[in-house]
Amino acid sequence: LKRVASSKGRSRLSWFYLFACSQVLLQVEISEIEGNMFRLKIDEASPLRARYKVPDVLMKDPTTQRLFVSQKEAGILALSSVNEDYKLQVTANPFQVVLQSKGETVLSMNSNGLLYFEHLQPPPSDRYSICLSHHSMKQEDLGLWQEKFGTFLDIKAHGPSSVGMDFSLHGFDHVYGIPQHTETLLLKNTSDGDAYRLYNLDIFGHKIHDKIGIYGSVPLLLAHKPNRTSGIFWLNSSETLVDINTKTAKQRAVPLTDVRWMSESGIIDVFLLMGPTPFDIFKQFAQLTGTQALPPLFSLGYHQCRWNYEDEQDVKAVDAGFDEHDIPYDVIWLDIEHTDDKRYFTWDKKKFQNPRKMQEHLRKKKRKLVVIVDPHIKVDPMYTLYSEAKDKGYFVKDRNGQDFEGICWPGSSCYLDFTSPEVRKWYADQFAFKTYKGSTNILFVWNDMNEPSVFKGAELTMQKDAVHYNNWEHREVHNLYGFYQQMATAEGLIRRSSGKERPFVLTRSFFAGSQKYGAVWTGDNTAEWGYLKISIPMLLTISMAGISFCGADVGGFIGDPEPELLVRWYQAGAYQPFFRGHSNMESKRREPWLFGKKNTQIIREAIRERYVLLPYLYTLFYRAHTAAEPVMRPLWVEFPGKIETFGVENEYMLGNALLVHPVTEQEAKAVSVLLPGSEEVRNNMKLLNCLIPVFQRGGTVIPLKTAAGKSTEWMIDISYELHVALDTEACAIGELYLDDGHSFQYLHKKQFLYRKFTFRKNILTSR
Ligand code: NOJ
Repeated sequence: LKRVASSKGRSRLSWFYLFACSQVLLQVEISEIEGNMFRLKIDEASPLRARYKVPDVLMKDPTTQRLFVSQKEAGILALSSVNEDYKLQVTANPFQVVLQSKGETVLSMNSNGLLYFEHLQPPPSDRYSICLSHHSMKQEDLGLWQEKFGTFLDIKAHGPSSVGMDFSLHGFDHVYGIPQHTETLLLKNTSDGDAYRLYNLDIFGHKIHDKIGIYGSVPLLLAHKPNRTSGIFWLNSSETLVDINTKTAKQRAVPLTDVRWMSESGIIDVFLLMGPTPFDIFKQFAQLTGTQALPPLFSLGYHQCRWNYEDEQDVKAVDAGFDEHDIPYDVIWLDIEHTDDKRYFTWDKKKFQNPRKMQEHLRKKKRKLVVIVDPHIKVDPMYTLYSEAKDKGYFVKDRNGQDFEGICWPGSSCYLDFTSPEVRKWYADQFAFKTYKGSTNILFVWNDMNEPSVFKGAELTMQKDAVHYNNWEHREVHNLYGFYQQMATAEGLIRRSSGKERPFVLTRSFFAGSQKYGAVWTGDNTAEWGYLKISIPMLLTISMAGISFCGADVGGFIGDPEPELLVRWYQAGAYQPFFRGHSNMESKRREPWLFGKKNTQIIREAIRERYVLLPYLYTLFYRAHTAAEPVMRPLWVEFPGKIETFGVENEYMLGNALLVHPVTEQEAKAVSVLLPGSEEVRNNMKLLNCLIPVFQRGGTVIPLKTAAGKSTEWMIDISYELHVALDTEACAIGELYLDDGHSFQYLHKKQFLYRKFTFRKNILTSR
């Protein structure tokens, strides 16, 4: 892939292969999927070996609908959808597909002729002799079966196998999505050769405004114009590059965006989401990959984390500090140092002598504990987890069939192969209370380093030629590794409660569908203003890609924020879905009360506001869970016809009712806020708070608590209040969802309350 994408000189090689072997047949499948979607699949008709098709991401095999052949002549096939709203024109030479909706061309494929498909071939006979002497050889001489990356040699056991294709989005000059990058909300043109990369990597101290892939990826791109939103979901878990070329209305009579996807291996399997509204796109994507898991209520409270809270006394003292300073919080976190020498599922015997007692203490305070559980396993025959996994053959293998060994926190480590269902089941069982000694039901889990991070590995990750379950190479499954670990962990937490309790699992690495298993955060950001600012478009992008439960480390992980930055970050974080303060080992302590009385007071206010807002936020999560509506959403999603909102990334909507404009500039005394909507709506936007610019939209009702408590569990009996902001007709609507906050009874027994409020003619009705 790199050959094709990044180095023009080398790209000729790939093309040569394509043309030289042009007799290889490719099979194209085009189908309509219920709910306004189309799927295009291209695979070799009879490959030498099956090519990788991403499993476990789609909810089920999508229900396809038959397309009708409306016209057929030499080299042209016209197909139409059942309701005749859509027409597809397929031409054979050159191969192209044009998709029209009611006569309007929305999307065309391969219009730039960039479709390529490196078919599998028998290995060249001199392959092994080449690899023996690779150190002295140049890449050109190594051929296509091996690739050098620094001192690393990647041996492609099955040869080159990249795929790619271009799409033209007609009339669109605003495109979004494909997290995760530290980039603007609007995707930029990549004509400088710097493509957006989707390759999950642990990049400590990553820069901002960079298109390199970090931690997680969701290959979903959204395109928007005033009357239509469309989406392209490129289902491929290998390293992927995306090139964007937008021609705006200034450059062309009708704007156009060309998007080129390129993946290192697998097949072309692409879903075209036809919207036509942004909320339709979110529903369509959820129909394919699932909706956000409904979080336990506590996890929407404030989380206090640090690398590391040292020992049981430290935990108790920090916990007590929140009460002394009258600051609500729900969860205290333990990072890697709590373990016995980075053996996950164990405790440092000196510092955490009685973890159960510590948890009982927290339980009495109605609070929870989250501990870190990473995917690498210390090589130590005396460590049961290691020896059991080794005996059972549960580790990823290297290309020679030995357990792949890399370096991570514990030193020499092996990596569990979560792509195997048997390994996932075994892993899930490790969370059983009797197996995980010292754990209780107030303990929840944080999966970190699961890109996977391999110190001293190529780009700090696993060799692409490592081998997984069913003999698939790591290159095929790379972007799925973290997805699978979180899946297994969530399953383990559900199972330890005999299916009764909702899990909470935070993951750093993710893929399409990770929303089903919990929350994600944006990794190691830095305590600088720019990182606070970029957290907004980053979280909006992740949210649009289906993952509503997301957040960024409050305060910035690396370094030491000045008090003003820390305060501003708390104010921003209070209105973001996942709200956790976290800091690096080298950073100074930063519990909220360490920055003087005045700052403590402002942080307290911000956190309390979060707690007062929880009924609204929880209701939004219910909507995300049941109707795939992102909790945090860009302005344009709520105002799809207002062009001035399309590029806005310094403010956003929380649900449909609140407009939030966090202060992200140093020493700001005022911010200028765009209030979209009609004149009347603007005038009816109500400023809720003057320290954090948050406005309620006219025509909405939001449920709040009348006061905050020490934690969510302390707040059960606090009453609710409704904030009604009228529209010009003096009307408003809103809703409230309530349940026990932790079990699956809402699902299995329908134990919940779901109220719709309507304010009309001076009367408030609740149904
Ligand atoms: C990297 C994570 O991104 C960070 O949040 C964590 O504190 C360290 N690993 C140590 O576990």
